[in-house]
Amino acid sequence: KKGSYDHFMQKEIHEQPHSLTTTMRGRLKDGGVLLGGLKEHLKTIRRCRRVVFIGCGTSYNAALAARTFVEELTGIPVTMEVASDLLDRQGPIYREDTAVFVSQSGETADTLLALDYALENGALCVGITNTVGSTLSRKTHCGVHINAGCEIGVASTKAYTSQIVAMAMMALAIGSDQISTQARRDAIISGLTSLPSCVSEVLKLDAEMKELAYSLIDSESLLVFGRGYNYATALEGALKVKEVALMHSEGMLAGEMKHGPLALVDENLPIIVIATHDACFSKQQSVIQQLLSRKGRLIVMCSKGDASAVCPNGSCRVIEVPGVADCLQPVINIIPLQLLAYHLTVLRGFDVDQPRNLAKSVTTQ
Ligand code: UD1
Ligand code: BG6
Ligand code: NA
Repeated sequence: KKGSYDHFMQKEIHEQPHSLTTTMRGRLKDGGVLLGGLKEHLKTIRRCRRVVFIGCGTSYNAALAARTFVEELTGIPVTMEVASDLLDRQGPIYREDTAVFVSQSGETADTLLALDYALENGALCVGITNTVGSTLSRKTHCGVHINAGCEIGVASTKAYTSQIVAMAMMALAIGSDQISTQARRDAIISGLTSLPSCVSEVLKLDAEMKELAYSLIDSESLLVFGRGYNYATALEGALKVKEVALMHSEGMLAGEMKHGPLALVDENLPIIVIATHDACFSKQQSVIQQLLSRKGRLIVMCSKGDASAVCPNGSCRVIEVPGVADCLQPVINIIPLQLLAYHLTVLRGFDVDQPRNLAKSVTTQ
Protein backbone atom coordinates (compact mmCIF):
# COMPACT_ATOMS: atom_id res chain seq x y z
CA LYS A 1 0.00 0.00 0.00
CA LYS A 2 2.98 2.30 0.56
CA GLY A 3 4.12 1.60 -3.00
CA SER A 4 7.60 2.96 -3.57
CA TYR A 5 7.58 4.92 -0.29
CA ASP A 6 9.18 3.94 3.03
CA HIS A 7 6.40 5.34 5.20
CA PHE A 8 2.76 6.35 4.94
CA MET A 9 3.54 9.90 6.06
CA GLN A 10 6.00 10.23 3.18
CA LYS A 11 3.50 8.78 0.71
CA GLU A 12 0.74 11.06 1.95
CA ILE A 13 2.93 14.17 1.72
CA HIS A 14 3.88 13.36 -1.88
CA GLU A 15 0.31 12.47 -2.84
CA GLN A 16 -0.97 16.01 -2.21
CA PRO A 17 -1.16 17.18 -5.85
CA HIS A 18 -3.60 14.29 -6.33
CA SER A 19 -5.54 14.55 -3.04
CA LEU A 20 -6.11 18.28 -3.63
CA THR A 21 -7.37 17.50 -7.12
CA THR A 22 -9.92 15.03 -5.74
CA THR A 23 -11.00 17.56 -3.06
CA MET A 24 -11.89 20.01 -5.85
CA ARG A 25 -13.21 17.50 -8.38
CA GLY A 26 -16.67 18.42 -9.70
CA ARG A 27 -16.89 21.39 -7.34
CA LEU A 28 -15.42 24.23 -9.46
CA LYS A 29 -18.04 24.83 -12.13
CA ASP A 30 -18.64 27.62 -14.66
CA GLY A 31 -16.29 29.98 -12.83
CA GLY A 32 -18.03 29.38 -9.49
CA VAL A 33 -18.11 26.86 -6.66
CA LEU A 34 -20.72 24.14 -6.21
CA LEU A 35 -20.76 22.29 -2.88
CA GLY A 36 -23.67 19.83 -2.98
CA GLY A 37 -23.58 19.40 0.81
CA LEU A 38 -24.04 23.12 1.54
CA LYS A 39 -26.19 24.51 -1.23
CA GLU A 40 -29.50 24.14 0.61
CA HIS A 41 -28.04 25.86 3.67
CA LEU A 42 -26.17 28.82 2.17
CA LYS A 43 -29.04 31.25 2.83
CA THR A 44 -29.15 30.32 6.52
CA ILE A 45 -25.37 30.55 6.84
CA ARG A 46 -25.32 34.01 5.20
CA ARG A 47 -27.81 35.26 7.79
CA CYS A 48 -25.92 33.89 10.82
CA ARG A 49 -24.39 36.18 13.43
CA ARG A 50 -21.04 34.41 13.63
CA VAL A 51 -19.13 31.38 12.42
CA VAL A 52 -17.48 29.34 15.17
CA PHE A 53 -14.74 26.93 14.08
CA ILE A 54 -14.26 23.93 16.36
CA GLY A 55 -11.60 21.20 16.16
CA CYS A 56 -8.52 19.58 17.72
CA GLY A 57 -4.87 19.32 16.68
CA THR A 58 -4.14 19.68 12.99
CA SER A 59 -7.83 20.14 12.17
CA TYR A 60 -7.95 23.16 14.48
CA ASN A 61 -4.90 24.57 12.70
CA ALA A 62 -6.59 24.10 9.31
CA ALA A 63 -9.59 26.07 10.56
CA LEU A 64 -7.26 28.80 11.82
CA ALA A 65 -5.70 28.98 8.35
CA ALA A 66 -9.23 29.41 6.93
CA ARG A 67 -10.37 32.04 9.43
CA THR A 68 -8.99 35.07 7.62
CA PHE A 69 -10.45 34.27 4.21
CA VAL A 70 -13.81 33.21 5.64
CA GLU A 71 -14.06 36.61 7.35
CA GLU A 72 -12.89 38.39 4.22
CA LEU A 73 -15.16 36.62 1.72
CA THR A 74 -18.30 36.40 3.87
CA GLY A 75 -18.09 39.45 6.13
CA ILE A 76 -19.22 37.21 9.01
CA PRO A 77 -17.14 37.37 12.23
CA VAL A 78 -15.29 34.10 12.91
CA THR A 79 -14.23 32.83 16.33
CA MET A 80 -12.00 29.81 17.05
CA GLU A 81 -12.55 27.05 19.60
CA VAL A 82 -10.34 24.14 20.57
CA ALA A 83 -13.06 21.53 21.24
CA SER A 84 -11.88 20.57 24.74
CA ASP A 85 -11.59 24.21 25.79
CA LEU A 86 -15.12 25.03 24.58
CA LEU A 87 -16.36 22.13 26.73
CA ASP A 88 -14.23 23.13 29.74
CA ARG A 89 -15.63 26.66 29.63
CA GLN A 90 -19.12 25.70 28.48
CA GLY A 91 -18.59 28.73 26.23
CA PRO A 92 -21.56 30.55 24.71
CA ILE A 93 -23.02 29.06 21.49
CA TYR A 94 -26.29 30.51 20.15
CA ARG A 95 -29.06 29.61 17.72
CA GLU A 96 -27.83 32.42 15.48
CA ASP A 97 -24.38 30.79 15.20
CA THR A 98 -23.02 28.55 12.46
CA ALA A 99 -20.72 26.04 14.19
CA VAL A 100 -18.23 24.45 11.78
CA PHE A 101 -16.65 21.22 13.04
CA VAL A 102 -13.39 20.19 11.38
CA SER A 103 -12.13 16.61 11.82
CA GLN A 104 -10.22 14.26 9.55
CA SER A 105 -11.60 11.11 11.20
CA GLY A 106 -14.98 12.51 12.19
CA GLU A 107 -14.62 10.48 15.40
CA THR A 108 -12.56 12.64 17.79
CA ALA A 109 -14.27 12.48 21.20
CA ASP A 110 -13.89 16.14 22.18
CA THR A 111 -15.07 17.35 18.78
CA LEU A 112 -18.14 15.09 18.93
CA LEU A 113 -18.97 16.22 22.49
CA ALA A 114 -18.66 19.83 21.36
CA LEU A 115 -21.02 18.96 18.49
CA ASP A 116 -23.62 17.58 20.91
CA TYR A 117 -23.26 20.76 22.95
CA ALA A 118 -23.72 23.03 19.90
CA LEU A 119 -26.72 20.98 18.72
CA GLU A 120 -28.33 21.36 22.17
CA ASN A 121 -27.75 25.11 21.95
CA GLY A 122 -29.54 25.29 18.61
CA ALA A 123 -26.67 26.31 16.31
CA LEU A 124 -26.56 25.28 12.66
CA CYS A 125 -23.86 22.56 12.71
CA VAL A 126 -21.64 22.05 9.66
CA GLY A 127 -19.03 19.29 9.27
CA ILE A 128 -15.76 19.34 7.32
CA THR A 129 -14.51 15.75 7.36
CA ASN A 130 -12.57 13.18 5.39
CA THR A 131 -14.71 10.27 6.50
CA VAL A 132 -18.02 9.49 4.82
CA GLY A 133 -20.36 7.80 7.30
CA SER A 134 -18.44 9.07 10.35
CA THR A 135 -20.30 10.19 13.45
CA LEU A 136 -19.47 13.82 12.61
CA SER A 137 -20.81 13.49 9.09
CA ARG A 138 -24.02 11.85 10.29
CA LYS A 139 -24.76 14.14 13.24
CA THR A 140 -24.09 17.52 11.58
CA HIS A 141 -26.94 19.23 9.72
CA CYS A 142 -24.83 19.51 6.58
CA GLY A 143 -21.21 19.66 5.50
CA VAL A 144 -18.44 18.96 3.06
CA HIS A 145 -16.52 15.71 2.62
CA ILE A 146 -12.94 16.69 1.80
CA ASN A 147 -12.34 13.54 -0.29
CA ALA A 148 -8.58 13.45 0.37
CA GLY A 149 -8.53 9.63 0.45
CA CYS A 150 -7.72 7.46 3.44
CA GLU A 151 -4.98 8.93 5.66
CA ILE A 152 -2.94 6.38 7.62
CA GLY A 153 0.04 8.26 9.08
CA VAL A 154 -0.79 9.46 12.60
CA ALA A 155 0.57 12.90 11.72
CA SER A 156 -2.03 14.49 9.45
CA THR A 157 -0.61 15.92 6.20
CA LYS A 158 -2.80 15.59 3.11
CA ALA A 159 -5.97 16.03 5.17
CA TYR A 160 -4.67 19.40 6.42
CA THR A 161 -4.23 20.84 2.92
CA SER A 162 -7.53 19.39 1.72
CA GLN A 163 -9.35 20.81 4.74
CA ILE A 164 -8.04 24.29 3.91
CA VAL A 165 -9.10 23.93 0.27
CA ALA A 166 -12.57 22.65 1.30
CA MET A 167 -12.99 25.66 3.59
CA ALA A 168 -11.80 28.00 0.83
CA MET A 169 -14.54 26.59 -1.41
CA MET A 170 -17.01 26.96 1.47
CA ALA A 171 -16.05 30.64 1.92
CA LEU A 172 -16.38 31.23 -1.84
CA ALA A 173 -19.83 29.60 -1.85
CA ILE A 174 -21.09 31.61 1.15
CA GLY A 175 -19.74 34.86 -0.32
CA SER A 176 -20.93 34.19 -3.86
CA ASP A 177 -23.86 36.64 -3.58
CA GLN A 178 -21.52 39.60 -3.02
CA ILE A 179 -20.81 41.67 -6.11
CA SER A 180 -18.04 43.76 -4.54
CA THR A 181 -15.78 40.74 -4.03
CA GLN A 182 -16.35 39.07 -7.43
CA ALA A 183 -12.85 39.87 -8.76
CA ARG A 184 -11.24 38.60 -5.58
CA ARG A 185 -13.26 35.37 -5.79
CA ASP A 186 -12.26 34.89 -9.44
CA ALA A 187 -8.59 35.26 -8.48
CA ILE A 188 -8.93 32.68 -5.69
CA ILE A 189 -10.73 30.22 -7.97
CA SER A 190 -7.94 30.56 -10.50
CA GLY A 191 -5.48 30.03 -7.61
CA LEU A 192 -7.31 26.83 -6.67
CA THR A 193 -7.03 25.58 -10.24
CA SER A 194 -3.26 26.08 -10.27
CA LEU A 195 -2.74 24.69 -6.76
CA PRO A 196 -1.96 21.03 -7.62
CA SER A 197 0.84 22.06 -10.00
CA CYS A 198 2.26 24.51 -7.43
CA VAL A 199 2.21 21.71 -4.87
CA SER A 200 4.13 19.45 -7.29
CA GLU A 201 6.67 22.22 -7.64
CA VAL A 202 7.14 22.78 -3.90
CA LEU A 203 7.57 19.01 -3.37
CA LYS A 204 10.81 19.32 -5.35
CA LEU A 205 12.28 20.84 -2.18
CA ASP A 206 12.42 17.32 -0.69
CA ALA A 207 16.21 16.91 -0.93
CA GLU A 208 16.77 20.44 0.36
CA MET A 209 14.52 19.76 3.37
CA LYS A 210 16.41 16.53 4.08
CA GLU A 211 19.63 18.51 4.13
CA LEU A 212 18.05 21.10 6.43
CA ALA A 213 16.80 18.29 8.70
CA TYR A 214 20.34 16.97 8.87
CA SER A 215 21.56 20.33 10.17
CA LEU A 216 18.86 20.29 12.89
CA ILE A 217 19.31 16.68 14.07
CA ASP A 218 20.84 17.60 17.44
CA SER A 219 18.84 20.76 18.17
CA GLU A 220 16.80 20.68 21.36
CA SER A 221 14.21 23.10 20.17
CA LEU A 222 12.83 24.83 17.08
CA LEU A 223 10.72 27.99 16.87
CA VAL A 224 8.47 28.89 13.94
CA PHE A 225 7.29 32.49 13.50
CA GLY A 226 4.34 33.35 11.27
CA ARG A 227 1.58 35.93 11.05
CA GLY A 228 -1.59 36.71 9.09
CA TYR A 229 -2.53 33.88 6.73
CA ASN A 230 0.53 31.95 7.90
CA TYR A 231 0.14 32.05 11.66
CA ALA A 232 -1.57 28.67 11.25
CA THR A 233 1.40 27.46 9.17
CA ALA A 234 3.70 28.26 12.10
CA LEU A 235 1.50 26.32 14.55
CA GLU A 236 1.06 23.37 12.20
CA GLY A 237 4.75 23.22 11.19
CA ALA A 238 5.74 23.18 14.87
CA LEU A 239 3.09 20.56 15.66
CA LYS A 240 4.46 18.26 12.92
CA VAL A 241 8.02 18.55 14.29
CA LYS A 242 6.89 17.97 17.88
CA GLU A 243 4.59 15.00 17.19
CA VAL A 244 6.77 12.93 14.88
CA ALA A 245 10.38 14.13 15.30
CA LEU A 246 9.88 14.31 19.09
CA MET A 247 11.65 17.67 19.24
CA HIS A 248 10.37 20.58 21.27
CA SER A 249 8.91 23.07 18.83
CA GLU A 250 6.65 26.09 19.14
CA GLY A 251 4.73 28.04 16.54
CA MET A 252 4.47 31.70 17.42
CA LEU A 253 2.70 34.80 16.24
CA ALA A 254 5.46 37.06 14.92
CA GLY A 255 3.59 40.12 16.19
CA GLU A 256 4.10 38.81 19.74
CA MET A 257 7.85 38.31 19.33
CA LYS A 258 8.79 41.31 21.45
CA HIS A 259 6.49 40.22 24.25
CA GLY A 260 8.56 37.27 25.41
CA PRO A 261 9.96 35.00 22.68
CA LEU A 262 12.76 37.45 21.85
CA ALA A 263 14.38 36.56 25.19
CA LEU A 264 15.10 33.05 23.84
CA VAL A 265 17.02 34.21 20.78
CA ASP A 266 20.71 33.32 20.55
CA GLU A 267 23.12 31.90 17.95
CA ASN A 268 22.09 28.29 18.70
CA LEU A 269 18.29 28.17 18.71
CA PRO A 270 17.04 27.52 15.16
CA ILE A 271 14.14 29.78 14.13
CA ILE A 272 12.03 29.40 11.02
CA VAL A 273 10.46 32.67 9.86
CA ILE A 274 7.65 32.47 7.30
CA ALA A 275 7.93 35.55 5.10
CA THR A 276 6.22 34.75 1.81
CA HIS A 277 4.83 37.70 -0.13
CA ASP A 278 1.55 39.09 1.23
CA ALA A 279 0.24 42.17 3.06
CA CYS A 280 2.41 41.29 6.11
CA PHE A 281 5.67 41.03 4.16
CA SER A 282 7.31 44.27 5.26
CA LYS A 283 6.45 43.51 8.89
CA GLN A 284 8.14 40.11 8.54
CA GLN A 285 11.19 41.78 6.97
CA SER A 286 11.56 43.89 10.08
CA VAL A 287 11.11 40.82 12.32
CA ILE A 288 13.99 39.18 10.42
CA GLN A 289 16.16 42.27 10.91
CA GLN A 290 15.47 42.29 14.64
CA LEU A 291 16.26 38.58 14.98
CA LEU A 292 19.48 38.96 12.97
CA SER A 293 20.61 41.87 15.11
CA ARG A 294 20.38 39.45 18.08
CA LYS A 295 22.44 36.90 16.14
CA GLY A 296 19.43 34.61 15.62
CA ARG A 297 19.99 31.40 13.67
CA LEU A 298 17.40 31.92 10.94
CA ILE A 299 15.78 29.78 8.30
CA VAL A 300 13.52 32.04 6.22
CA MET A 301 10.72 30.79 3.99
CA CYS A 302 10.06 33.31 1.22
CA SER A 303 8.50 33.56 -2.23
CA LYS A 304 10.63 32.66 -5.24
CA GLY A 305 12.94 35.54 -6.11
CA ASP A 306 12.69 37.19 -2.67
CA ALA A 307 15.84 35.65 -1.14
CA SER A 308 17.86 38.86 -1.22
CA ALA A 309 14.88 40.93 -0.04
CA VAL A 310 14.45 38.79 3.10
CA CYS A 311 18.12 38.22 3.78
CA PRO A 312 20.31 40.95 2.25
CA ASN A 313 23.71 39.78 3.52
CA GLY A 314 23.17 36.04 3.08
CA SER A 315 23.28 35.38 6.82
CA CYS A 316 20.24 33.12 6.91
CA ARG A 317 19.25 29.91 5.24
CA VAL A 318 16.46 30.49 2.73
CA ILE A 319 13.64 28.22 1.54
CA GLU A 320 12.09 29.62 -1.66
CA VAL A 321 8.54 28.51 -2.46
CA PRO A 322 6.21 29.15 -5.43
CA GLY A 323 3.59 31.86 -4.96
CA VAL A 324 -0.19 31.38 -5.16
CA ALA A 325 -3.12 33.64 -4.17
CA ASP A 326 -2.18 34.94 -0.69
CA CYS A 327 -5.03 33.16 1.13
CA LEU A 328 -4.02 29.80 -0.42
CA GLN A 329 -0.31 30.25 0.37
CA PRO A 330 -0.66 28.24 3.64
CA VAL A 331 -1.33 25.14 1.49
CA ILE A 332 2.06 25.59 -0.20
CA ASN A 333 4.01 26.78 2.85
CA ILE A 334 3.17 23.82 5.09
CA ILE A 335 4.66 21.32 2.63
CA PRO A 336 8.38 22.08 3.19
CA LEU A 337 7.67 21.88 6.94
CA GLN A 338 5.94 18.49 6.53
CA LEU A 339 9.00 17.29 4.59
CA LEU A 340 11.31 18.71 7.26
CA ALA A 341 9.41 16.95 10.07
CA TYR A 342 9.44 13.70 8.10
CA HIS A 343 13.19 13.71 7.41
CA LEU A 344 14.03 14.90 10.92
CA THR A 345 12.10 11.92 12.32
CA VAL A 346 13.83 9.37 10.09
CA LEU A 347 17.27 10.88 10.76
CA ARG A 348 16.64 10.90 14.52
CA GLY A 349 15.59 7.25 14.30
CA PHE A 350 11.98 7.55 15.47
CA ASP A 351 8.82 5.87 14.25
CA VAL A 352 7.28 8.12 11.57
CA ASP A 353 3.86 6.54 11.21
CA GLN A 354 3.26 5.57 14.85
CA PRO A 355 4.76 8.30 17.04
CA ARG A 356 5.25 7.48 20.71
CA ASN A 357 2.12 7.96 22.86
CA LEU A 358 -0.08 9.23 20.01
CA ALA A 359 -3.12 7.76 18.22
CA LYS A 360 -4.57 8.54 14.81
CA SER A 361 -8.00 9.02 16.24
CA VAL A 362 -8.53 10.06 19.87
CA THR A 363 -11.92 8.55 20.65
CA THR A 364 -11.76 8.92 24.44
CA GLN A 365 -11.67 12.10 26.51
C1 UD1 B 1 -22.17 13.88 -3.30
C2 UD1 B 1 -21.71 12.43 -3.14
C3 UD1 B 1 -20.67 12.13 -4.17
C4 UD1 B 1 -21.19 12.41 -5.57
C5 UD1 B 1 -21.73 13.84 -5.66
C6 UD1 B 1 -22.41 14.03 -7.00
C7 UD1 B 1 -21.61 11.17 -1.02
C8 UD1 B 1 -20.99 11.01 0.32
N1 UD1 B 1 -21.19 12.21 -1.79
O1 UD1 B 1 -21.03 14.74 -3.08
O2 UD1 B 1 -20.27 10.75 -4.06
O3 UD1 B 1 -20.15 12.26 -6.53
O4 UD1 B 1 -22.67 14.08 -4.62
O5 UD1 B 1 -23.13 15.19 -7.05
O6 UD1 B 1 -22.47 10.41 -1.40
N2 UD1 B 1 -22.48 16.08 5.15
C9 UD1 B 1 -22.79 16.32 6.47
N3 UD1 B 1 -21.75 16.51 7.33
C10 UD1 B 1 -20.44 16.43 6.95
C11 UD1 B 1 -20.15 16.19 5.60
C12 UD1 B 1 -21.21 16.02 4.71
O7 UD1 B 1 -23.95 16.38 6.87
O8 UD1 B 1 -19.55 16.58 7.80
C13 UD1 B 1 -23.63 15.86 4.21
C14 UD1 B 1 -23.78 16.95 3.17
O9 UD1 B 1 -24.55 18.03 3.64
C15 UD1 B 1 -24.44 16.19 2.03
C16 UD1 B 1 -23.85 14.78 2.17
O10 UD1 B 1 -23.36 14.69 3.48
O11 UD1 B 1 -25.82 16.12 2.26
C17 UD1 B 1 -22.76 14.52 1.17
O12 UD1 B 1 -21.72 15.53 1.30
P1 UD1 B 1 -20.60 15.66 0.17
O13 UD1 B 1 -20.03 14.31 -0.12
O14 UD1 B 1 -19.64 16.72 0.56
O15 UD1 B 1 -21.53 16.15 -1.04
P2 UD1 B 1 -21.21 16.24 -2.60
O16 UD1 B 1 -19.92 16.89 -2.85
O17 UD1 B 1 -22.43 16.83 -3.20
C1 BG6 C 1 -5.05 13.16 16.86
C2 BG6 C 1 -4.19 12.99 15.64
O1 BG6 C 1 -4.35 13.85 17.85
O2 BG6 C 1 -6.24 13.86 16.52
C3 BG6 C 1 -3.91 14.34 14.95
O3 BG6 C 1 -2.96 12.38 16.00
C4 BG6 C 1 -5.23 15.01 14.62
O4 BG6 C 1 -3.18 14.13 13.76
C5 BG6 C 1 -6.13 15.12 15.86
O5 BG6 C 1 -4.99 16.28 14.09
C6 BG6 C 1 -7.54 15.52 15.47
O6 BG6 C 1 -8.09 14.46 14.70
P1 BG6 C 1 -9.31 14.62 13.74
O7 BG6 C 1 -9.56 13.25 13.20
O8 BG6 C 1 -10.43 15.15 14.58
O9 BG6 C 1 -8.91 15.60 12.69
NA1 NA D 1 -25.17 15.07 8.28
